[in-house]
Amino acid sequence: MSKKPVASNNIRSLLNETRVFKPSKDFSAAAHVGSLAAYKKLWTESVRQPERFWARHAKAELAWQRPFKKVLQWKEPVAKWFVGGQLNVSANCLDKWLGTATANKAALIWEGEPATDGRPGEERVYTFAQLHREVCRFANVLRRNGVKKGDRVILYLPMVPEAAIAMLACTRIGAIHSVVFGGFSAQSVADRIHDCGAKLVVTSDGGYRRGGIVPLKKNVDDALAIHDAAGGLLARTVEKVVVLRRTGHEVHMAEGRDVWWHRELEYVDSRCEPARMDSESPLFILYTSGSTGKPKGILHTTAGYLLGAKLTHKLVFDVRDDDVYWCTADVGWVTGHSYIVYGPLANGTTCVMYEGAPNWPENDRFWRIIEKYRVTILYTAPTAIRAFMKWGDAWVTRHDLSSLRLLGSVGEPINPEAWMWYHKVVGGGRCPIVDTWWQTETGSILISPLPGATPLKPGTATLPFLGVLPEVVDDAGKAVPRNTGGKLVIRKPWPSMLRGIWGDPARYKQTYWSEVKGSYFTGDGCRQDEDGYFWIVGRIDDVLNVAGHRIGTAEVESALVSHPSVAEAAVVGRPDELKGQALVCFVTLKTGVDAHPGLKNELRQHVGKEIGPVARPDDVRFAEALPKTRSGKIMRRLLKQIASGAEIKGDTTTLEDFSVVAKLSQSDE
Ligand code: PRX
Repeated sequence: MSKKPVASNNIRSLLNETRVFKPSKDFSAAAHVGSLAAYKKLWTESVRQPERFWARHAKAELAWQRPFKKVLQWKEPVAKWFVGGQLNVSANCLDKWLGTATANKAALIWEGEPATDGRPGEERVYTFAQLHREVCRFANVLRRNGVKKGDRVILYLPMVPEAAIAMLACTRIGAIHSVVFGGFSAQSVADRIHDCGAKLVVTSDGGYRRGGIVPLKKNVDDALAIHDAAGGLLARTVEKVVVLRRTGHEVHMAEGRDVWWHRELEYVDSRCEPARMDSESPLFILYTSGSTGKPKGILHTTAGYLLGAKLTHKLVFDVRDDDVYWCTADVGWVTGHSYIVYGPLANGTTCVMYEGAPNWPENDRFWRIIEKYRVTILYTAPTAIRAFMKWGDAWVTRHDLSSLRLLGSVGEPINPEAWMWYHKVVGGGRCPIVDTWWQTETGSILISPLPGATPLKPGTATLPFLGVLPEVVDDAGKAVPRNTGGKLVIRKPWPSMLRGIWGDPARYKQTYWSEVKGSYFTGDGCRQDEDGYFWIVGRIDDVLNVAGHRIGTAEVESALVSHPSVAEAAVVGRPDELKGQALVCFVTLKTGVDAHPGLKNELRQHVGKEIGPVARPDDVRFAEALPKTRSGKIMRRLLKQIASGAEIKGDTTTLEDFSVVAKLSQSDE
């Protein structure tokens, strides 16, 4: 990093003074990729001859049970990577280290949420060898409960080591996991079970969150009792539920269906051969929101995904043997998959995992953990950074954070003020920041600095990762000149790209491969600056990014109209200082329904119940009518402007009734 001293406390003035941060000589000297020239050379080679590049890394990074024959078979939009090869993900993450010095190194350092009475959180450390044993045992539990190769398993768990163990156990026997974030509701769990036809659910009696208990098992019970329109059970494919004891409070156990994790372990041994999996065997499904309809089950497969997660983790975080790495995401999101579980373990990296919230019991939870475990790499989200900024420097500076050497950001654009604060107050002015751009669909980081090589500018994810060819294009798919906004696309397939949407190949093609001919469409708006750096503007479809969580406006709208009082709903985003975007709902009520004061909150709770607390609206506004074009389309552009309090701009001539807009603007009283 630049040795320029950070002299002023005023971050705004710093932004004007210091725009480019060059990697420090010390950092570069020890880095995997140590200069911009080296990066450029590698990148140019990698995109000129991508198959050669990926084949070389696939051989060097992965342990194969059978070597692959063909690097890529590409027939848009279907990619097959490393065809003919066989390997097992859990063997690459765990068995690989047995018999080496890494076997007895900490793989996971876990800290539970502190108790309400102030007692510190529980701590557990698993070495690679211990994790291997636990994964084998749980893989046998899954088998014992009828799970076979190719079966789908839902994991609905808190942030406990067992979440990683269950994921790896699925990969060990070739079952396909689908992790559902604990902030989703019973209805969302049922929808996901139904969509992927899951046979088994792994959950826990509960999870701790800010001193409260999230009733995960109760939600699963409710999910399994939901009926579909035809009167049958929605989640009827589920045969067994394995329940982890976490909180110890009483839960209902259905005879013949529900079994305790710890009891099951008594019946199994710790030997379990890793299944031989084809490179393209499905590895996991992760549901994410799109611009229309229900969430889509994003499908990732074995070899390509693992290679992407491993190589990016190694180079973007520049990992070394003695690093203590902490990614604060939840395993329910893709960040937790690639950068808590698969990438780090495949690299033999010690990973910290924390169960609770950043402000429980106090605002310095993160900094305490970093000081305690001497964390060297921290990977978190801009929303968290902005919250810490608001809580004040003192919570940070009272802790010794001198172990940190690298910081990462993910999930949303990081505003330059937050970047500077992160750099200065958390990183002590010495740690590079890797602003990593990627998506559930991309499987691994596609645009990011390499910390020993790339000069940094606050607010941009900088340059493409090796082998990745992004471009900013216009509506016709033509590359736009520098400093012009456009759509972000990826021109060539890459190994960790999604292979499809579970059960819906047409939607896969339509969503990602139809917008811009011959390219993967990301859904993001972007601009490249004079140095070729990519500045992500945010989603250009009807997907919102609220506190780094992806929320489909269509899903929230359909949750709202499922309430008996609601006639119509339109959901838009409004800029929010802390969360990036806030969720604003415009609602018209059915005739005769009174817009009583409690109704707004009732609707917020209703969305929380339908989708999960994660999608609870920030603002509900009642309107007499929604602005529509003459052909009946809701004019979202206008609603966005109204939601953010902006002056109404642009063409309103197609608006059916302009008085609607005037009424909406005043509708929040
Ligand atoms: O809009 C981009 C934003 O998050 C979206 C992907 O969301 P999800 O699939 O939930 O994955 C989040 C974690 C990888 C993208 O389309 N996004 C992600 N990272 C960045 C970002 N926007 C700007 N800068 C980033 N670094």
